[in-house]
Amino acid sequence: MKSWRFHEFGHISNLKMEEVAIPVPAQDEVLIKMQYAGVNPADKFLIMGLYPGASEPPYAVGRDGCGTVVEAGRDSKYKEGDQVITPSAPVGINREGTLAEYLTLPDDQVYMLPHWWTPMEGAAGTKVFLTCWQALSNAANLRAEETVIVSGASGGIGLAGLALAKAMGAKTIALSRGTAKLEKLLQLGADHALDIGDPDLIPKIRALGGADVILDVVGGDFLAKCIEMANPYGRIGVIGALGGIKCEIDPVPIIFKRLQINGMQVSLYEAAESQAAMNALLKVLEPGKVKILIDKVFPFDQVQEAFEHMRGGPMGKVIVGPIGE
Ligand SMILES: NC(=O)c1ccc[n+]([C@@H]2O[C@H](COP(=O)([O-])OP(=O)(O)OC[C@H]3O[C@@H](n4cnc5c(N)ncnc54)[C@H](OP(=O)(O)O)[C@@H]3O)[C@@H](O)[C@H]2O)c1
Repeated sequence: MKSWRFHEFGHISNLKMEEVAIPVPAQDEVLIKMQYAGVNPADKFLIMGLYPGASEPPYAVGRDGCGTVVEAGRDSKYKEGDQVITPSAPVGINREGTLAEYLTLPDDQVYMLPHWWTPMEGAAGTKVFLTCWQALSNAANLRAEETVIVSGASGGIGLAGLALAKAMGAKTIALSRGTAKLEKLLQLGADHALDIGDPDLIPKIRALGGADVILDVVGGDFLAKCIEMANPYGRIGVIGALGGIKCEIDPVPIIFKRLQINGMQVSLYEAAESQAAMNALLKVLEPGKVKILIDKVFPFDQVQEAFEHMRGGPMGKVIVGPIGE
């Protein structure tokens, strides 16, 4: 089979398509023929050696995916023909990833594709919505009518965060870059959209009533601004650090506003936790309620082009597929 693997930490160009043997599922595992897989900034950080806890290569990267069970181990509850997604924690980090024609996974790291999602939506939606669920529900305990700010709003996490917050009854403020993206985000349902580089960002957010919950993928100096924008008892979900890894913060407003700053890490969900989170999440994402936005689908042999495209700042998820056709 064809698989996008790397053998040494370093540059993203270390990721190459290779021919390897199709894996054989163990008793409690399934063999999945992949249809679509997502690419994520974290795959690139992992190859660069910047992802804590990642196993030593060689292996395929890729966390999101959707495919069809083609063989089920003796003890597996799945059967041939089941369409499944991969909410699993270690996929593409501590075991083979989804950017391959076939993948074996234990039952508890697989989830049935919801009947109202297409395979493309399964590959695009699973991990980003699960991450936002961890941030909005598990960590922030978001209540209806609260206000949620989402940074990097045009990306995979950003759009999922906005859509999920809306589905949970919150008001949303999208932070993005450039007028065209702000207009698009308003069309997509954000209640407000502001440029993250606006020098008057903080007074503008205050005029909108501040934020009860903030999902942040930018990090760096922006974390200090999140602390300023948060309302008393605000909860800040630190999801990414695309804008930098160092920041000077003032502890006083954290103390006096009694803020919570929560680190999010979807890959550290235990298998049972991610199954429970998927069950709860899908009750909120009921059929037709939330659209999963796909920015671009690349052919399976253009994974490097997909990563390059993502660098430019997508509007939604970037995926590859159909795989193996
Ligand atoms: N903690 C977790 O469990 C978890 C899970 C998934 C992803 N992540 C992390 O979350 C981050 C976002 O992931 P994603 O899938 O949404 O990525 P993505 O689809 O590539 O989108 C990232 C968005 O962030 C904004 N952005 C990009 N570079 C930026 C920069 N240098 N400064 C400011 N904003 C920038 C852009 O949005 P605008 O142009 O709209 O600003 C871009 O569209 C990544 O760092 C990823 O590793 C973490």
